Amino acid sequence: MARTTPFYIIGNWKSNKTVESAVQWFQDMQTLWRKEPLDVSGVIIILCPSTLHLTTLTSLVKLFTLPLQFGAQDISPNLSGAFTGDVSGEMLASLVDYTLIGHSERRKYHAENESELQKKVDQAAKAGIEPVYCVQSAEMTIPQNCKIVAYEPVWAIGTGKAETAENAGQVAGQLKSRHPQLSTIIYGGSVTHENVVSYVQTAALDGVLPGGASLDAQKFYELIRQVTQAIRAPT
Ligand code: PGA
Repeated sequence: MARTTPFYIIGNWKSNKTVESAVQWFQDMQTLWRKEPLDVSGVIIILCPSTLHLTTLTSLVKLFTLPLQFGAQDISPNLSGAFTGDVSGEMLASLVDYTLIGHSERRKYHAENESELQKKVDQAAKAGIEPVYCVQSAEMTIPQNCKIVAYEPVWAIGTGKAETAENAGQVAGQLKSRHPQLSTIIYGGSVTHENVVSYVQTAALDGVLPGGASLDAQKFYELIRQVTQAIRAPT
């Protein structure tokens, strides 16, 4: 399906991988890419590993010349100072171009509320980092200064039961009409290399956010390959 705007693939590693297994993933990806490089024009690939791995992986990506950008999985609502455990926008700015904000797992396990999420969005803006704001339905509040939103129904996350592309496209349409400032709507929840083409074929969707399917380099490569083929396929 010919697209006039880029299609996003955002891999979310969540709380997975040691430094060693993260490096191994990059070595595996490099081997696959060398064997069969993919034409990724029209595709933006972003990986969100643990913050702990960002320094190592941003060096590796240059060394291996892989077409990957980086995102954080979260950002502190504060600029800097006495906030033990927080990783601030100014710390992340040289390592990432994007950050997830408001993922349902953070809302659930860290009781993140809308006023805190607004502060995170503001800190990302200050640091020049693009927020990927996660919502679990079309009715949820979205801060004014967000352009990219990920629709991720909780029941579809990590369950193997993905939302149909048709329904996800309808929600994307609702989000776009409620929030005209949004440029990019991404779907996340059990996306794999086997179902990703249906999302590429849905005009209202601008990308996907795979979690589990990004953990294995071979599966993530295959998912990228499916997208690169589908965005060029005649309609
Ligand atoms: P999943 O996770 O692909 O493993 O369902 C998606 C997400 O939570 O971002």
